[in-house]
Amino acid sequence: MQLKNDLYLRALRREPTERTPVWLMRQAGRYLPEYREVRAKAGDFMTLAGTPEMACEVTIQPLERFPLDAAIIFSDILTIPDAMGLGLHFVQGEGPRFTDPITDAAQIAQLPVPDAEDLQYVMDAISLTVKTLDGRVPLIGFAGSPWTLFTYMIENGGSKTFAKSKAMLYKNPEAAHQLLDKLAQSTVKYLIGQIQSGASAVQIFDSWGGALSPADFKTFSLRYMQQIVDGIKDAGYSDTPVVLFSKGANQSLTALSETGCHGLGVDWTINLDDALKLTGGQVALQGNLDPATLYAPDDHIDQAVKQILDSYGNQPGHIFNLGHGMQPDMQPEKVAVLVDAVRRHSQR
Ligand code: CP3
Repeated sequence: MQLKNDLYLRALRREPTERTPVWLMRQAGRYLPEYREVRAKAGDFMTLAGTPEMACEVTIQPLERFPLDAAIIFSDILTIPDAMGLGLHFVQGEGPRFTDPITDAAQIAQLPVPDAEDLQYVMDAISLTVKTLDGRVPLIGFAGSPWTLFTYMIENGGSKTFAKSKAMLYKNPEAAHQLLDKLAQSTVKYLIGQIQSGASAVQIFDSWGGALSPADFKTFSLRYMQQIVDGIKDAGYSDTPVVLFSKGANQSLTALSETGCHGLGVDWTINLDDALKLTGGQVALQGNLDPATLYAPDDHIDQAVKQILDSYGNQPGHIFNLGHGMQPDMQPEKVAVLVDAVRRHSQR
């Protein structure tokens, strides 16, 4: 498919662009009234994500409001654990839960490694969305990192301390590695399936990478993201950009930049000029406005955007984004201010 706007892909290849491309993590979601409407019609989250027509509709909603440079397929990182048979559901006000969370090694040994076909609804949503976008912007596919999925599967939801998942790493490393390896194997197939269905690039969300020490990060998170990067390359998709986003793991940016990925997501706790030094110009950088800036007055947003663009400087390879996702209580009008500021201040 010939793209009319390929700024995002050119920036990922660190080619010069006429301005800095911008998209926002969680750009589709509850902060948009038109999303809430479709979400109410669907009844529950998995029906929405599992119905290609509805998933396609909500994927494109933010692009109808804002001149964004990429779309991200509407889905969730927890689709793989669900396909493994854990029974994903969302409890109102509490977040994700599993009917059968992981409690012991025997259960891990029994877990299947789902293929892309076991997540056919995601493949179908991607094909339909690429067709509907008709080359307007690239579509990003995604998955969770094995470590981040591991925490949800063992904690049975979010966690502040990661007590159960870390206890498993230290008490039963063999079982932990078996689960992480199964997740990585499945993710390789899943992301290749997404690329074959039309995704132009893929991003791995390692939302809890920052909960690990640098040494544990290498052993339990980075190693399995490396397996995914290698698996995609070895299957012949080395031209498809892979972006890794390990939130809170800025101390590991150098190691992340050496995986052979094309881009790195950067959270807001580091200046981009420092992130550039740590990554040595080997990869594109995506970020990194503090999402809470969207609660600020318009002129504050404008200046914060300019600061980030200045911090990255004039070299190629920057994709503007938030340092984490949009929140349900944010105002759509603020996103318009942000996107406009990126376009104005980055014009070359
Ligand atoms: O627009 C996009 O960015 C694409 C869609 C997307 C969703 N989830 C939709 C969603 C993406 C990329 C994700 C990734 C995801 N899911 C992550 C990684 C990114 C991050 O924020 O760190 C994580 C940790 C999850 C797990 C998850 N799924 C949580 C914590 C929740 C929120 C639960 C709640 O009720 O607050 C979800 C559900 C979810 N995924 C929603 C959306 C829009 C909200 C649920 C709803 O609409 O009912």
